[in-house]
Amino acid sequence: MTTAPTTLELAETADAVVIAGAAPCSVANVHFSSATNEWSTPQDFYDKQHAIHNFTLDPCCTHENAKCANHYTQAEDGLKQDWSQDRVWMNPPYGREIGIWMRKAYEESLRGALVVCLVPARTDTAWWHDYAAKSDVTFIRGRLKFGDGKNSAPFPSALVVLKPQNSMLNRRAV
Ligand SMILES: C[S@@+](CC[C@H](N)C(=O)[O-])C[C@H]1O[C@@H](n2cnc3c(N)ncnc32)[C@H](O)[C@@H]1O
Repeated sequence: MTTAPTTLELAETADAVVIAGAAPCSVANVHFSSATNEWSTPQDFYDKQHAIHNFTLDPCCTHENAKCANHYTQAEDGLKQDWSQDRVWMNPPYGREIGIWMRKAYEESLRGALVVCLVPARTDTAWWHDYAAKSDVTFIRGRLKFGDGKNSAPFPSALVVLKPQNSMLNRRAV
């Protein structure tokens, strides 16, 4: 027997609900669609963060939108990799799996990684309360224009910084 989704489950998939049936990512309106996972970070926004943190790993990307030479795509599955030696730029898939990525970011920070997460500011979700709310959060003023889109995102964004909890570990050189 299937059960109706809870309010929280609906909230965590709110974008997907709103845009169900949206066109695939190769067409012009991709930037209003979270049916695709390709909410690529605007390059100028990334560059400012990179100047501060000197990132060494992008664990969730395609080869086309990777922000670091050292990166993992779906084929390698960034969730299965070791991030502990890295300073990580994480703009994760925005679907239901976002909570799994936030948990991975938290666990890797315990093992020595610095993880800077660009996420939708979904402050009512479980993953927000479990990981973001206990971390260093900067709410972004206005809306980002993802990818090469001309339109602003239909949701607010935030930067969540998960600091390394084990600073004794060696770090990957740039
Ligand atoms: C929001 S986009 C961010 C892309 C890029 N990191 C950036 O900042 O512009 C999320 C990316 O995660 C990728 N992705 C989804 N599942 C993945 C997995 N298991 N391992 C690695 N990458 C994955 C998607 O293909 C997508 O390119």
